[in-house]
Amino acid sequence: MMKQIQWFPGHMFKSLREIREKINLMDIVLVLLDARLPKSSMNPELFKIIKHKPTLILFNKMDLSDDTILSDWIRFYEKEGYATLKIDAQSGKNVNKIHSACQEVLKDKIEKNRQKGLKDRPIRTMILGIPNVGKSTLINQMSKSGSAKTGNTPGVTKAQQWIKLSDDFELLDTPGVLWPKFEDPKVGYHLAITGAIKDRILPEDDVVHYALEFLKKHYPKQLEERYGILGDLEYVEMLDTIGKLRGALLKGAEIDYQRVYTIVLTDIRNKQLGGLSFDRL
Ligand code: G4P
Repeated sequence: MMKQIQWFPGHMFKSLREIREKINLMDIVLVLLDARLPKSSMNPELFKIIKHKPTLILFNKMDLSDDTILSDWIRFYEKEGYATLKIDAQSGKNVNKIHSACQEVLKDKIEKNRQKGLKDRPIRTMILGIPNVGKSTLINQMSKSGSAKTGNTPGVTKAQQWIKLSDDFELLDTPGVLWPKFEDPKVGYHLAITGAIKDRILPEDDVVHYALEFLKKHYPKQLEERYGILGDLEYVEMLDTIGKLRGALLKGAEIDYQRVYTIVLTDIRNKQLGGLSFDRL
């Protein structure tokens, strides 16, 4: 059932090129990942670009993720040398910690500049992430806190809009859109399940099939609590159980599978099965 997808490579290279250009203006980059997908929502090409760049990895939508699994990933990225922070951009949780986390990453550099007698200048940053990961929500949330002002900064070739978050913290108001890359078909399913890709790139039947098998393996208790699915049911049996329970029926009491697909995906995305994580280490 796994399908290999060709994901607009043209778009991906264009966005990576744009990011590479902008990144030179930054003191630190904020890489926004989906807390449910700490691997699938990362573009592996980005690692090469940010290799020598101070980076803070933000795990957004922490409210929707499985905290135990997220902790494993946080340990993994920290071992790789990255600073990390889990956030919920929608409610604003931990967003006020971003500034000090950036200062911490840059503290040696700031200290060196001070010793050279240089005046402190604002830390400049930008947000990078795949579509729908929450970049605009985070930019809005960050500008709400503090004395946000937008304005052109002279001296930059193409006038960039910066949001002044505080006297020493500036955010580029256009995020870097990163295209996900999936050579591994699983990544495509993970992005589809969480709603990162909406344009029906993958058939819904395949996506729901993958999702229900995944839940059966990793979250059987949640399947039982939500849908009364107990034990090792086949995929179609699971659909039938959910369809009957939720009244997703056509004339003649046949199951309306299309509606069952929507029920399952909506439930997952709205946290009706609790916090879930799809990438495993
Ligand atoms: P983008 O700029 O990276 O493309 O993403 P955007 O901010 O538009 O956010 C995409 C969706 O994710 C939005 O939902 C937004 O409210 C939601 N979102 C962002 N951060 C969080 C978070 O920390 N937790 C939760 N639960 N949701 C978050 P939406 O407006 O309803 O749009 P959609 O879901 O219909 O796409």
